[in-house]
Amino acid sequence: MYRTHTCGELRLSDKNKTVTLGGWVQRTRDKGKLIWIDLRDRYGMTQLVAEESVTDTETFAALKKIGREFVVQIQGEVIEREAKNANMATGDIEIKVQSVKILSESELPPFTIEEDSDGGEELRMKYRYLDLRRPNLQRNLILRHKMAQLVRNYLSDKGFLEVETPFLIKSTPEGARDFVVPSRMHEGKFYALPQSPQMFKQLLMVAGYDRYFQITKCFRDEDFRADRQPEFTQIDCEMAFVEQDDILNMFEGLTKHIFKTVKGIEFTEPFQRITYDESMERYGNDRPDLRFGMPITEITQLVKGKDFKVFDEAEYVGALCAETPVEYTRKQLDALTDFVKRPQIGSKGLVYAKYGTDGVIKSSVDKFYSPEDLKRWAEAVSAKPGDLILILSGTKKQTLSALSELRLEMGNQLGLRDKNKFAPLWVVDFPLFEQDAETGKLYAMHHPFTSPKKSELHLLDTNPAAVKADAYDIVLNGSEIGGGSVRIFDRNIQEKMFSLLGFTKEEAEIQFGFLMNAFKFGAPPHAGLAFGFDRWVTIFSGSDSIRDVMAFPKNNAGKDIMLDAPAELHNDQLAELSLAISAKSPKK
Ligand code: AMO
Repeated sequence: MYRTHTCGELRLSDKNKTVTLGGWVQRTRDKGKLIWIDLRDRYGMTQLVAEESVTDTETFAALKKIGREFVVQIQGEVIEREAKNANMATGDIEIKVQSVKILSESELPPFTIEEDSDGGEELRMKYRYLDLRRPNLQRNLILRHKMAQLVRNYLSDKGFLEVETPFLIKSTPEGARDFVVPSRMHEGKFYALPQSPQMFKQLLMVAGYDRYFQITKCFRDEDFRADRQPEFTQIDCEMAFVEQDDILNMFEGLTKHIFKTVKGIEFTEPFQRITYDESMERYGNDRPDLRFGMPITEITQLVKGKDFKVFDEAEYVGALCAETPVEYTRKQLDALTDFVKRPQIGSKGLVYAKYGTDGVIKSSVDKFYSPEDLKRWAEAVSAKPGDLILILSGTKKQTLSALSELRLEMGNQLGLRDKNKFAPLWVVDFPLFEQDAETGKLYAMHHPFTSPKKSELHLLDTNPAAVKADAYDIVLNGSEIGGGSVRIFDRNIQEKMFSLLGFTKEEAEIQFGFLMNAFKFGAPPHAGLAFGFDRWVTIFSGSDSIRDVMAFPKNNAGKDIMLDAPAELHNDQLAELSLAISAKSPKK
């Protein structure tokens, strides 16, 4: 037997027991005649102690040779510590070492294996197995496991079946690029890796498995964003004989259950539901962080006609009202101006008005606006003395998006985005299509199987861009943690949808023919949703990065730097696949 106990287990009640422990050496403190060692495993840490005068010579000499991250097995007696450590679960005891065996030596690790490591992220990712020894990552993976178990049990109790679907498939239309896998047996042909199991789960509904779920990997070759990974995990769900409300209620129930069990937080009220349009108008995006208020107020008409060209020429002017504990300085306001002028935000400048605690409002555009004008602005945004009004202008689309970023930045600066506070909500009534401003081409906002609202079907012919869909997202603290829709199950509407999206009959047949065929054989009404599991765990763990809740993530260039993937293939492998690499494009 390698060990009798784990390193997190022993207490004062175990005093005088002879125990065997195995683990990694966190650190040693060698005081000459006295040595302390902290031994670690995933359950915790236990202090070992050896004294030259009482320990046998060989054991004492062996202990002196031990370094960080050695794997050792020790036998000893549990004794009460003189200097107890209240911060450690095993802090009341230590082990008086009687014998030691070095099971495996370790080179000096390239970074410290502690909560706050001294290693940069790239280095830690290269040695991910060492990084994973850190307690924070262990906590995250344990949390992830626990959440996955809870989801499985909850859905299973509700009659959902977990069904696996294939990874080597044909393209799925989730809006990103596919990762592809060449086929050796079928020269010149490729599988695509699924962007989601979307079409399979719909086929399972046609097949009569009316409550399906799966915790599964999805693969998307899309541009990097902080909360994206090229392969990520969905809790993918689908139900038959349901309407939108059935789905929202079912998965709100699941979300509340996980909140209660994992976080001890009970949401007794239904989650707030806001429409896509309202979310865009009030928060400038479709995943509002509702841990704090500070909504956007449109003041376009209010500010026009005072010879301030910037506002007079703007399509849209919007304001935020921030409750600042102390008056913002000129330097802070300049920094905010620089913030909104960043290329990724793209505003030309920032107008502000400070509502002094003395009741006087001072603005950066005093030349154009009288004190009465400014009072009207303050009223429009419900500002009170002490508040700061921030105003951006430009095209509606760009300005709302910039105001959304500015709102989040102010939320950060004012400490309103508390990681221990949770604000879940549903965003509903998404548009069916997104329209390219230049070409007028329509794209599916969610995916091409999303059902238009029944009440808006008639608009499909006349004004498709205005049609709303039975599509919804679940949002937590400013992050879209899930999304789904009611599906089209009428062949005619589905064909119409493909034609609006610009597919010819033949193209639709090639790409989705099997689904259309399936719909000929009795498709039930159905709807579903998929949670982005990694994002949800990230928020629950309080981590800043999605990478901190995945055992082996890719870096932000999509690379696994431990494996050095993606990598080139040998020529013989390429030949076997009938592939040749053409000249690389210069930008790469
Ligand atoms: P959607 O594309 O909205 O819907 O994806 C569902 C959820 O998956 C998460 N997500 C991601 N997480 C990490 N990295 C990524 N690259 C990434 N992309 C998406 C998000 C998102 O809300 N088939 C539909 C679901 C349905 O209609 O039932 C789908 O995949 O949290």
